[in-house]
Amino acid sequence: MDTHKIIVAIDGYSSCGKSTMAKTFARKTGYRHIDSGAMYRAVTLYCMRNGLFKADGSVDADRLEREMAGISISFRNNAVTGVTETYLNGENVEREIRSIEVSERVSPVSAIAVVRRVLTGMQQDFGREKGIVMDGRDIGTAVFPEAELKVFVTASPEVRARRRYDEMTAKGEKADYEAILENVKERDRIDSTREISPLRQAPDALVLDNGNMSLQEQDEWLMDRFNEKLESLNNR
Ligand code: DC
Repeated sequence: MDTHKIIVAIDGYSSCGKSTMAKTFARKTGYRHIDSGAMYRAVTLYCMRNGLFKADGSVDADRLEREMAGISISFRNNAVTGVTETYLNGENVEREIRSIEVSERVSPVSAIAVVRRVLTGMQQDFGREKGIVMDGRDIGTAVFPEAELKVFVTASPEVRARRRYDEMTAKGEKADYEAILENVKERDRIDSTREISPLRQAPDALVLDNGNMSLQEQDEWLMDRFNEKLESLNNR
């Protein structure tokens, strides 16, 4: 019997299927899924729409700090598709935050201390009741260092760029594989070298290299690790 509700933290490089895996896991278990990257993307979209990007591509961090309190990010379930969608100040921005324009600008925004502090606080609030799966870069290290189950997902940049390319073309969007590959590599570099909460594998994380795995295989892998964890907690 499941007497425990836990926190599942899934970290890893961009476009390695963390959110897809977390979504399926949430559907099967009834856990709540929070895509923390969507929150950084929503703040980025806010910056783009409100002229916070300077001509050199950097962000007016002082202005953003003043405006952070007025940025509300929430997640709502789409009653038709059953998919969780991201809202920025009450507006559904799920589609816009996935654009290449946002992808290209999100890294400098996510390197700003006040952005990380505010979003980390919101993420911790989401996890108060446990029964949550959250994916991102620093969930197992900074947001929930006490998470019961931590997974670190990895796959080569080429595999990840190919997946994103296929995803975009399947939706009928224009896609350029080389540009996507460059974006994937550049984000890896910025995500792993930034000063605050860089992408790092938590020492107690389980590593999942899903380069040669099907979606079904990786879903099963996670469900097995989850069941093992519940069993060990219940036997304590
Ligand atoms: O997972 P994603 O590609 O949607 O994330 C978008 C960006 O947000 C990514 O470049 C790094 C940043 N991010 C972060 O810094 N910390 C997180 N917990 C999640 C995402």
